[in-house]
Amino acid sequence: MEAVKREANYDEQSANAKGSTRAKELAVVPRGEIVIRGLHKVYETKKSQFEALKNIDLSIGTNEFVTIVGPSGCGKSTLLRIVAGLDELTDGSVTLDGDEVIGPGAERGMVFQGYTLFPWLTVRENIEYGPKLKGISTLERRAISNHFLKVIKLEAFASAYPKQLSGGMKQRVAIARALANRPKVLLMDEPFGALDAQTKLEMQEMLLEVWEKEKTTVLFITHDIDEAIFLSQRIVVMGAGPGRILKTFDVELPDKRTSEIRELPEFLALKRELGQLLKH
Ligand SMILES: Nc1ncnc2c1ncn2[C@@H]1O[C@H](COP(=O)(O)OP(=O)(O)OP(=O)(O)O)[C@@H](O)[C@H]1O
Ligand SMILES: [Mg+2]
Repeated sequence: MEAVKREANYDEQSANAKGSTRAKELAVVPRGEIVIRGLHKVYETKKSQFEALKNIDLSIGTNEFVTIVGPSGCGKSTLLRIVAGLDELTDGSVTLDGDEVIGPGAERGMVFQGYTLFPWLTVRENIEYGPKLKGISTLERRAISNHFLKVIKLEAFASAYPKQLSGGMKQRVAIARALANRPKVLLMDEPFGALDAQTKLEMQEMLLEVWEKEKTTVLFITHDIDEAIFLSQRIVVMGAGPGRILKTFDVELPDKRTSEIRELPEFLALKRELGQLLKH
């Protein structure tokens, strides 16, 4: 339930955020360039300070797919939450298309690991939730949900409730729900971490299809090196103590990602190199 509240909160805050007006949305806008400069994050507790992120510099281009990997506790979620505007930075800056990130915004969509759907709403109502908060008319909302039900191939489940869905189906709805706000950026924190191996592979392929169609920028976090290589154009490896960027890799694989690319020597070489780096 905690996760449900968190995401609901994100949608509500996004709907009220400045810059999410219909006029601005309908205009032709650049699709999500993120620039992170000199980012520091210190968590203050009553007795001590904890340096969670140090000196993070990272630029993510329009329609780029970038994945962050790194050991548990190295600050991946903290970084993503700062880009989402859910956490405050201590020093440095984060901009989206030149505008400083100062809070949640509808131009950024979040997908978490947990299934953050509202259990009391149908699949369609969950997808229409963000647009409804923004005051979009019933007719227009219907068009939006129809479009995304098709994208996630769940037209037949429009009237079902989350409890009637499998884990993979729920996560597809969560993605559709994030996309229904027409974000420029999709921020995904281990979205497939709880799924079984087969479903995970299907979800990865579906996500790439969605990414190609919707032309969003994606910043994706995972523990799974295979997943990172399969999905991304660039992989950022973080290290802990304090959380920082160790190395960035360009993924030199064909644009069209089919399951066969997992057997390519380039794929296996990169997998080995990432594995080595993460071991230390
Ligand atoms: N609200 C908070 N207050 C204090 N410390 C925090 C807070 N949130 C996170 N931290 C600390 O910051 C560090 C980074 O946490 P974060 O959740 O970003 O890690 P992560 O890389 O996402 O880990 P995982 O892979 O396990 O999800 C951790 O050491 C954590 O204990
Ligand atoms: Mg995390």
